[in-house]
Amino acid sequence: MDTQHTPSASPASHARLPVALIGGGQIGRMHALRGATHPDVRFCGVADPSPATREWAAAHNLSWFADAASLLDATKPGAALVATPNALHRDAALACIARGVPVLVEKPIADTVEAGLDIVRAAARAGVPVLTGHHRRHNPIAREAQRLVQAGVLGRPVAASALATWLKPEPYFDAAWRREKGGGPVLINLIHDVDLLRFLLGDVVSVQAQASHAVRGFAVEDTAAAVMRFANGALATLLTTDTAAAPWNWDLAAGEAGHYPRQDIDAHHLMGTEGSLTLPRLEVWRYPGARGWHEPLSVSRAVPHTGDPYTEQLRHLRAVAEGREVPRCSGLDGLRTLQATLAVLESAKTGAPVALAPLEV
Ligand SMILES: NC(=O)c1ccc[n+]([C@@H]2O[C@H](COP(=O)([O-])OP(=O)(O)OC[C@H]3O[C@@H](n4cnc5c(N)ncnc54)[C@H](O)[C@@H]3O)[C@@H](O)[C@H]2O)c1
Repeated sequence: MDTQHTPSASPASHARLPVALIGGGQIGRMHALRGATHPDVRFCGVADPSPATREWAAAHNLSWFADAASLLDATKPGAALVATPNALHRDAALACIARGVPVLVEKPIADTVEAGLDIVRAAARAGVPVLTGHHRRHNPIAREAQRLVQAGVLGRPVAASALATWLKPEPYFDAAWRREKGGGPVLINLIHDVDLLRFLLGDVVSVQAQASHAVRGFAVEDTAAAVMRFANGALATLLTTDTAAAPWNWDLAAGEAGHYPRQDIDAHHLMGTEGSLTLPRLEVWRYPGARGWHEPLSVSRAVPHTGDPYTEQLRHLRAVAEGREVPRCSGLDGLRTLQATLAVLESAKTGAPVALAPLEV
């Protein structure tokens, strides 16, 4: 935990916590729609300079403000959610922290490690909780996987693989920023897989990677492969491509959003000395008796888990704001995930391995 907030066990009161929304674009509106029927939170207003969001706010009976400071000062919310473009996360988060407002910042926590550090340090100084919107940590599949790993089902974690491979349709690239550096599958998508592996295996200490734009030919990568070493000694391979006719990715496998047709596949494999685990199907492979590659392995398979991680994330935001829970993905967690993900691009550019520097908060 990277704040001085002291958790307490007191239950939530009945009234829904007012949450300020900063940035009412695609994902901000999705959060607001979940908030409309949420038992624990309600959105009390949106700050977004765009006329389109102003119209959308009016249509949804949500108070509109041109900037974050006006929204925060007028509504005095119990928490805030930042869903602006990445480069604006720092300013929006700092505006919340300066007013003592606990804030959930969409992923990535910032566009650079330096900007992320500014947020985490300001939060630590002020004792205000900051959460990062790596929503997969709120999926029951990821939480059960973490429980299994922590219960020692894997024994000593040895290796992992993560696949984030799909075909993004051509119109996706109409927005120019998606063809430029920083707009590709590493920072937009693979960062979720980096965070999921960090959630399960702990901190990353070094990264080696290659990237390619051979198929789409944009400035940004369309394909990247990375090797990560974790502090516990485990190694992982992570592979992403947005230009292959392939189903192996969390979005299609985990059933989090109805607009992705769910496939009965796994996208992540974790291997340990005592057993192995797949996600999202949560298969556990172990030797029931004698061990060794000539011996039969048994597999147990869980009922497919379902549950909306975004709704759970809003419940958790309120619990953190009220001091009843510690952040499941703190600002510092989000920053370490960003640092490891940026190292993929750095290593791909230089061809050299990147050792992750300790972050001094
Ligand atoms: N966790 C997830 O599943 C997920 C999914 C998509 C996007 N995201 C993240 O959410 C953030 C927003 O992504 P998006 O796809 O909604 O982008 P978007 O472009 O659709 O929306 C961004 C909004 O921010 C507004 N904005 C710009 N400047 C602002 C300012 N100074 N103050 C307030 N609002 C401002 C824009 O007008 C726009 O409406 C990004 O950080 C992205 O990485 C997370």
